[in-house]
Amino acid sequence: MTIWVPQLPPQGPRYRALSEAIATAIEGGELTAGERLPPQRRLADALGVTVGTVTRGYAEAERQGWLVARVGSGTYVRGAAAAPAFPTPGAECDTGLIDLSLSLPPPHPLRAEALGRALSGMARQPRLLQAAVEYQAADGLLEQRRVLAGWLATLGMTLPAEELLITQGGQHGISLALATLLRPGERLAADALTYPGLIGAAQQAHLKVDGIAMDAQGMDVEALARLCARQAPRLVYVTPDQNNPTGASLNEARRRRLVELAREYDIWLLEDGVQYLPAAARGTPLYRLAPERTLFVFSTAKVLAGGCGSASCVPPNACASGWRRASGRRAGWCRR
Ligand SMILES: Cc1ncc(COP(=O)(O)O)c(C=O)c1O
Repeated sequence: MTIWVPQLPPQGPRYRALSEAIATAIEGGELTAGERLPPQRRLADALGVTVGTVTRGYAEAERQGWLVARVGSGTYVRGAAAAPAFPTPGAECDTGLIDLSLSLPPPHPLRAEALGRALSGMARQPRLLQAAVEYQAADGLLEQRRVLAGWLATLGMTLPAEELLITQGGQHGISLALATLLRPGERLAADALTYPGLIGAAQQAHLKVDGIAMDAQGMDVEALARLCARQAPRLVYVTPDQNNPTGASLNEARRRRLVELAREYDIWLLEDGVQYLPAAARGTPLYRLAPERTLFVFSTAKVLAGGCGSASCVPPNACASGWRRASGRRAGWCRR
């Protein structure tokens, strides 16, 4: 029986060449959805490489979403249409580690269908098309902010459209918040296990991050109080509803204590509200408890789709103008 054997270019790492050949073969229809890939040893012999190289090549293609490995059965083509650009959260990467850096909504075909309908609807409206090719207002068009405010309301978050600022996703909102509120060298505090994008943004902004102990109720605010007594951070970043990666949510008493500490030590609160939770499952948002010092970040990535991420952020009035300066023309609508 003949097997699929790709032509690998002579240069570059073999495993990567193999994973690229798999992606090309799937995109070109040479390998089709559901098709089983050759057993690793046979492909290794045919290509003149080690079995380890084929294992790594398959793992890389799987990580990119092209393949699925079924234990005891083999490796199969997932299908071009279904291939996501990012690995499924929780999926094992070729390093053997589980990637918890992004939390993504479970895949569903309705998302692509809904996007198709929205784009066709847009294509029939010359006014919208014209608006889409123009430069956008740095903090988003009011019409867009109104739509987002409506969404937020259905999720139990009532925020005035006029105060929303549009960014290119939650990550961009976090970076802008840090750039607006803190100076290089200043300290911020976050859960000891926190969203890796926060750490990356803090490093880029030359900030120091203090990790605060946590338990099943999220951040241990008394540990934060002890830190404040020694050296208060300028900002506390927290995802009160469903921390990434632990899933812990802050209970109401801790939210109130956190706000109390923020007021006592004059600390900004960066509230990450991007995780999807139904309104009934959310606690009281910090922006409601302490509107004067809370910057709230929301993203459509978890409620709509990761690729259609756009976010709105509500800065406290005290820093809104600095924010607009920091965001400049970079803030846009649905551009990632
Ligand atoms: C807690 C948290 N905040 C922010 C983000 C970034 O949001 P976006 O994808 O809109 O940039 C993520 C993404 O996974 C996240 O898990």
